[in-house]
Amino acid sequence: MNTGKNIILTGDRPTGRLHLGHYVGSLKRRVELQNSGKFDAINILIADDQALTDNADNPAKIRDNMIQVALDYLSVGIDPNKSTICVQSALPALHALTFYYMNLVTTARLSRNPTVKAEIQMRGFADEGLPAGFFSYPVSQAADITAFDANVVPVGEDQLPMIEQTREIVEKFNKIYGDTLVLPKAMIPENETQRRLPGVDGKAKMSKSLGNCIYLSDDSKTVKKQVNGKMFTDPTHLRIEDPGHTEGNVVFTYLDAFCTDAHFAEFLPEYANLDELKAHYRRGGLGDGTCKKFLINVLESELAPIRAARANWEADIDAVYDILREGTEKAVETTNATLARVRKAMRINYFDDRSIVKEWEALLKAAKQ
Ligand code: TRP
Repeated sequence: MNTGKNIILTGDRPTGRLHLGHYVGSLKRRVELQNSGKFDAINILIADDQALTDNADNPAKIRDNMIQVALDYLSVGIDPNKSTICVQSALPALHALTFYYMNLVTTARLSRNPTVKAEIQMRGFADEGLPAGFFSYPVSQAADITAFDANVVPVGEDQLPMIEQTREIVEKFNKIYGDTLVLPKAMIPENETQRRLPGVDGKAKMSKSLGNCIYLSDDSKTVKKQVNGKMFTDPTHLRIEDPGHTEGNVVFTYLDAFCTDAHFAEFLPEYANLDELKAHYRRGGLGDGTCKKFLINVLESELAPIRAARANWEADIDAVYDILREGTEKAVETTNATLARVRKAMRINYFDDRSIVKEWEALLKAAKQ
């Protein structure tokens, strides 16, 4: 279905504080899109139900991290006057939609989802047993996206399989029940390093248990410690004079993702841009210390305002609560309207009116003849 509107839906699981990978892969873009004025609605979902699919034994973790994620959103510049921040578990329409969409997806198709596959491995579900809810969370994500009539879903690259699966569900639904749902499109960063920022140790995934994250809420001392103490560079670059490699060198990966020419003008005016810095490193004669110091300056210039905004929001958690409550109330209306449309398309909207009474009567009469 085409609503003629530009609508965004995206979200995050509240399983921890958000880190630089989230920021550069998705959050920063959301704020830009929000401020572009090109969208009729922007919805950001705190996906606590999805987080429960692999944390059923630890709901307190989700409860605690809801406020962290909300604070991360507000401090990066998600503006509650322009974007609707809402809480998944308080939107009953999503549960109903998930249940209907489950019938449009085979278990074989779910088993092929590469992101879920990787997560199953990582969480050890392959040995322990796989919760059915976790296995099928891409279906609930399809409910999230379609319930808001979203046509644009700004996400990190790892979420592409979810959008692909959502599109299949939309196409199937529309084919069976008539044109009802909006076909969404993923929007991922153009910059490759922004799409998948590695951990400071160079591991593909930033994860709390690996201790290789830089969080948006980390103080400057911690940021410094992560970069100076943990960030991988080039193991063959032993002395400053040695030629170095910039590929696979995490400091340069982060610079690729974060630095601009303006950062050079401000913090390292000996170089005009990253290409010049890289060329010097490759040639030899440029030490890791200089590059790390520059990176810390770049990260700090990005993180300092976020930190300051966070401190203000942290001083008024009542206000944050009201933002979530009001956003969720609005989202209840939006998603209920979609559910009503879906039930109508499926012709299971029995109690909208009494028209089925006539239908049933006619059926019974015909059967008797
Ligand atoms: N799966 C996403 C993540 O792990 C979170 C999410 C839930 C989401 N529902 C969504 C993202 C809908 C985009 C659209 O971060």
